[in-house]
Amino acid sequence: MLNAVMLEQTVKIVSNERDTDLYFRLVVRAPQIALLVQPGQFAHIRIPPLRDALLRRPFSVYQVNGETFSILYKTVGKGTEVLSRMSPGDELSAIGPLGHGFTVPQRGGETPLLVAGGYGMAAMYLLAQRSPQKGIVFVGGRRRLDILCEKEFQAIGWDVRVATEDGSHGEKGLVTQPLLAEIRNPTRCDGATARRESEIRNYKLFACGPTPMLKAVCKIAVEFNVPAEISADEHMCCGVGVCLTCVIPVKACDGWEYQRTCTEGPVFDSRNVLWEVPG
Ligand SMILES: Cc1cc2nc3c(=O)[nH]c(=O)nc-3n(C[C@H](O)[C@H](O)[C@H](O)COP(=O)(O)OP(=O)(O)OC[C@H]3O[C@@H](n4cnc5c(N)ncnc54)[C@H](O)[C@@H]3O)c2cc1C
Ligand code: FES
Repeated sequence: MLNAVMLEQTVKIVSNERDTDLYFRLVVRAPQIALLVQPGQFAHIRIPPLRDALLRRPFSVYQVNGETFSILYKTVGKGTEVLSRMSPGDELSAIGPLGHGFTVPQRGGETPLLVAGGYGMAAMYLLAQRSPQKGIVFVGGRRRLDILCEKEFQAIGWDVRVATEDGSHGEKGLVTQPLLAEIRNPTRCDGATARRESEIRNYKLFACGPTPMLKAVCKIAVEFNVPAEISADEHMCCGVGVCLTCVIPVKACDGWEYQRTCTEGPVFDSRNVLWEVPG
């Protein structure tokens, strides 16, 4: 089934600037996508100067500002490399908003713990901005230059905890370390530590990043009985549920089934994701 609302449009680049190292911020004017997008949804973008321009690339919608939306992207291959050389005024084709996004936390509900690695931060900003319940953002990367948007999250009142593998910023190690420390030893708003069971049960995890990080978050969710939503990062082709490139095994009433990351996902309840096809 295709998304109820899905728009293809030619969009003009407003700005396309380097953020840190390999990361760029692209702003495009796309009033309808900007109006309709929900946290965790993505836009499927065709880059006309590419030789295989028919193939689109999926990017999470990072921020929305009036009639524009932005994406935060890492240059990893030919598509993103060509995109990084495009200029204001150039045109792209975008389909969106696509996919099933995150559940926005309710005021007075569970405290959201957002966990992001690398460009996974891009999927988290709208969620944090639209959540009436503030929480903690755990962000991880190999080194300082992989830590994105720290100030943006702080500016909207979120507590940001950083971990880098080389220790160049924040705690040295994987992002799951400060996350585990928080779950085992919850901090209250006043910074004091509380060890009440009820506070542990009142968390909800939201994660986006590389698959090993998502698997680790799912394990933590099971171990501490914390609900979790994860955004799966799968290769996509059509982006609209037709080609089945993006399927992953998910629990079903009578065992398991394949679901499409582009339509049933990219956000899934962590309890349903199997990661591997049952033997
Ligand atoms: C739902 C969703 C949201 C995404 N949001 C963002 C985002 O906000 N910012 C961002 O920078 N990227 C995001 N990505 C990943 C992005 O789509 C890919 O990096 C991009 O398509 C690569 O295009 P390319 O032509 O530059 O690379 P290619 O030349 O196609 O590939 C270069 C390398 O990147 C790898 N690659 C391609 N697609 C993916 C992928 N989906 N995940 C991991 N590795 C991949 C390839 O295996 C290859 O090693 C998202 C992916 C999905 C599925
Ligand atoms: S990318 Fe084609 S079905 Fe998901």
